[in-house]
Amino acid sequence: MELRVEGISTAYDRADVLEDVTLDVAAGRITCLLGSNGSGKTTLIRSILGLTKPRRGRILFGGTDLTRLPTHRIVASGIAAIPEGRKVFPRLTVTENLRLGAYLETDAHIVTDRMERVFAIFPALAQRRSQIAGTMSGGEQAMVSIGRGLMSAPKLLLVDEPSLGLSPLFVKENFAVLRKVNESGVTVFLVEQNVHQTLAIAHEGYVLSKGRVVAHGTAQELLENDEVRKAYFGEGAA
Ligand SMILES: Nc1ncnc2c1ncn2[C@@H]1O[C@H](COP(=O)(O)OP(=O)(O)O)[C@@H](O)[C@H]1O
Ligand SMILES: [Mg+2]
Repeated sequence: MELRVEGISTAYDRADVLEDVTLDVAAGRITCLLGSNGSGKTTLIRSILGLTKPRRGRILFGGTDLTRLPTHRIVASGIAAIPEGRKVFPRLTVTENLRLGAYLETDAHIVTDRMERVFAIFPALAQRRSQIAGTMSGGEQAMVSIGRGLMSAPKLLLVDEPSLGLSPLFVKENFAVLRKVNESGVTVFLVEQNVHQTLAIAHEGYVLSKGRVVAHGTAQELLENDEVRKAYFGEGAA
């Protein structure tokens, strides 16, 4: 389902962190938001989830206005988020971690069914379903956190910097998984600093700089965009 962020401004105290941000996440696609550290990416995700309410603007999901809804209603409308740093519950097993992602679902058969679907996407997790999550590698924990997001059967997955702190090999694997998730019908909004890997899987995207959208286009257009080159490829000051 499509998400539309319409002219939002968000602040923690007095100064706006996001200023008049407008963007569309098209249904069935992978849309990315590129921005350097501190540009406001996580704040945008918090705004979508209603964790930090925008001071101005609207957030529409499949045409429904989410702006004033509490977070649990926003999540229940079909949005799941994978937090920055892919937090897993380190003392719980893989299965227990996954189950927590489906806490809104009371039918045990549906939960089991969703879990099998997650294991189909991540065969490596299927073999480790009883392992304590805190004893797994960073790449495996990343799979657990994405899998947990999928357990609510979301229509839209928000992913906050999945590449952070992962080795290049795991980043590649992780992004391949996001593509697979998208191909299974889930709309993906991917927030990242890693330009090359992100534009390799995204269909389209936006560039955020100091809380404002400074560029927008297809992945190919962004690769050729001057703002992106300036900010990320060392061609002039960011
Ligand atoms: N909880 C908070 N309270 C006050 N300021 C915050 C808070 N979280 C983030 N900020 C500020 O908002 C700006 C954007 O941060 P953030 O959205 O985390 O950026 P990014 O995710 O792109 O690194 C930064 O200047 C940061 O210091
Ligand atoms: Mg962030």
